[in-house]
Amino acid sequence: MRDMRNVLELAGRDGYAVGHFNVSDLVLLKAVFSSAQELNVPVLVGASEGEREFMGVNQLAALVRSLRAEFDFPVFLNADHTHTLEKAKEAVKAGFDAVVFDASALPFEENARQTKEAVEALKTINPEILVEGEIGNIGTGSEIHELAPDLSKYLTTPAEAKQFVDFTDVDVLAPAVGNMHGMSQKMVEGKSKKRLDIERIAQIRTAARVPLTLHGGSGTDDEDLKQAISAGISIVHINTELRVAWRSGLEAGLNAQPHQVVPYKILPFAVDSVKEAALGRLRLFNHVRQFTIEEKNGMISTT
Ligand code: G3H
Ligand code: ZN
Repeated sequence: MRDMRNVLELAGRDGYAVGHFNVSDLVLLKAVFSSAQELNVPVLVGASEGEREFMGVNQLAALVRSLRAEFDFPVFLNADHTHTLEKAKEAVKAGFDAVVFDASALPFEENARQTKEAVEALKTINPEILVEGEIGNIGTGSEIHELAPDLSKYLTTPAEAKQFVDFTDVDVLAPAVGNMHGMSQKMVEGKSKKRLDIERIAQIRTAARVPLTLHGGSGTDDEDLKQAISAGISIVHINTELRVAWRSGLEAGLNAQPHQVVPYKILPFAVDSVKEAALGRLRLFNHVRQFTIEEKNGMISTT
């Protein structure tokens, strides 16, 4: 079985990206895992502090571990947007594969200082843990926002990216390159798209020399995503799109059976709806992928 570091190396080498999907219940986890299984592509399951609080840090880790073991499948678990060292340590001790240490709301120097401290402390607990740092401002909240904020003055520069990575020693960097957390109502309706600064991504990748993550992937223009991946994005985070699909699937399940009370007869509607959303994104992120014979036959290569 490949580890997450190896999966990221292969993604960077071959020009595809690993999909990262946030989960906060079993419906989302089942849908994400089943979509990755269907396409036979590696996948990252993410949970922010709030999502972990709801699912239980140890319980989520046990669920993902059981999927990885039972199906011998490259599914990895990320402690997304972790704002304190205490919460980051808790996730590492629970067995998460990666942590996004997010001090990006702080001034650059303080963000760098705290992130460096987190990298050192977390690797003391598990030397294999992958730590991602974040710079620039991409807004907060994987929700439907009334208006898309103008974050153009908070974009990451290649010089900042290099300085931050050199100082902190993070394994992965999340820059601000036109991306933004959440979606506007127009984006949900498909009438507006997030656009990315592709040139900036390429320059940051060259300067930083570590894999890059694109946060706030929901509602992003498909062509921009493809170009961003070839410019150096190795992980794409999607959350709001799945939440929108979760809600509409749940409503469909309830509306189709107004008197039904059996959860396992209602919730499959939500699983199917989320799965369709995840499948679409995974196909896009992996569109350049050359599948090996083993993968085509449904067996993951372990080399
Ligand atoms: O960390 C989570 C993401 O960056 C998701 O952003 O809700 O815009 O897809 P999104
Ligand atoms: Zn994010």
